[in-house]
Amino acid sequence: MKAICWYGKHDVRFMDVPEPEILNDRDAIIKVTTTAICGSDLHLYNGVIPTMQSGDVLGHEFMGEVVEIGKEIKNLKKGDRVVVPFTIACGNCFFCKRDLWSCCDNSNPTPETAETLYGFSPSALFGYSHMMGGFAGGQAEYVRVPFADVGPIKVPDSLDDEQVIFLSDIFPTGYQAAENCGIKEGDTVAVWGAGPVGQFAIKSALMLGAERVVTIDHYEDRLDLAKQGTDGKVTTINFDDTEVYDKLKDLTGGRGPDSCIDAVGLEAHGTSPDALIDYAETKVMLATDRAHALRQAIFCCRKGGTVSIPGVYGGLLNHVNFGAAFGKGLTFKMGQTNMHKYLKPLLQKIEEKALDPTFVISHRMKLSEAPEAYKHFNNEKNAWRKVVLTP
Ligand SMILES: NC(=O)c1ccc[n+]([C@@H]2O[C@H](COP(=O)([O-])OP(=O)(O)OC[C@H]3O[C@@H](n4cnc5c(N)ncnc54)[C@H](O)[C@@H]3O)[C@@H](O)[C@H]2O)c1
Ligand SMILES: [Zn+2]
Ligand SMILES: [Zn+2]
Repeated sequence: MKAICWYGKHDVRFMDVPEPEILNDRDAIIKVTTTAICGSDLHLYNGVIPTMQSGDVLGHEFMGEVVEIGKEIKNLKKGDRVVVPFTIACGNCFFCKRDLWSCCDNSNPTPETAETLYGFSPSALFGYSHMMGGFAGGQAEYVRVPFADVGPIKVPDSLDDEQVIFLSDIFPTGYQAAENCGIKEGDTVAVWGAGPVGQFAIKSALMLGAERVVTIDHYEDRLDLAKQGTDGKVTTINFDDTEVYDKLKDLTGGRGPDSCIDAVGLEAHGTSPDALIDYAETKVMLATDRAHALRQAIFCCRKGGTVSIPGVYGGLLNHVNFGAAFGKGLTFKMGQTNMHKYLKPLLQKIEEKALDPTFVISHRMKLSEAPEAYKHFNNEKNAWRKVVLTP
């Protein structure tokens, strides 16, 4: 079969790879009908996530048709149309039972690196390095889905692929980011990053009752999209020409936003001294992550506020003003999304037309064109916002 494989920094290829097989009784094989490229895939593309190996099949946002099931799968049958969450979880462990699906204790068969770096290993992920389990991803014609009795969600024929594909990651991720803010009536939520995750965080913050959302980025197309259909509740800041802290203070009567969402993560851009130091330090391995957006979120957040971090971080962050976080009594919430918790309620929101997730799509391409798509998405973020691929 054909799949998109990682061969190193800025090198992904459309290749022939062996078809997946059922290995465990709780596996299913999915014939992929739609898949997508995520900002998280760019961290792999840019070579900033360790433990990738040449030939690894990429992709964690995918959906398709069930074509084979293991003996213990009773909830699915051949021919079912499903969306698959990007975190792999067993459904039975201490963490799954507490709705902490992205912390599942049983899904990562190669936890050693994560245990060394983090103390304990998070759940496995599709197509996201050997530290995260080494599972083949879904930018492919077929994919093996472990624990298929608890992960995939069946979707009704009344909704087409594009309406539901983002249940695999970015809709739940934006939603959890907003939910983690503990939004109260009258709240102002600031969102760093108007990429697809930021866009869903903005929509979710409004759904959860935020009075106003302020979005920070430097791509005008993305900022414009953030404002569309929000009845003037979204204000935008272009960080290239506006001092973010001053503007946020102005907009909130001098108090600062009630919560701050970092939907940027470890590859933040900037021209301030700390951002320039990040570029230098990561280049010579004195830091692993460029934390400029997170630093700004911490600095701008009001006293007693919440910093919610869906943006991915991998390792060591320098010059983070922890004193500011302590002094202001901030709450931090973060992590890979506890996907399984959100699939049903957010599918319902799509069915009720509370949100049409297709608004983020900018490009529709063939799986074979993914290498081109990766290049454009990485370099031309204004126009290239979200690419969906069909095998
Ligand atoms: N927690 C999870 O489970 C989860 C799931 C999916 C994605 N993510 C992460 O969320 C982040 C965003 O994903 P995406 O798909 O939207 O990516 P993306 O790369 O399309 O968007 C990131 C946006 O951040 C903006 N940005 C860069 N520096 C900034 C700064 N200093 N201030 C404000 N904005 C800045 C960029 O211009 C860009 O528009 C990534 O780190 C991704 O890995 C996390
Ligand atoms: Zn993703
Ligand atoms: Zn588990």
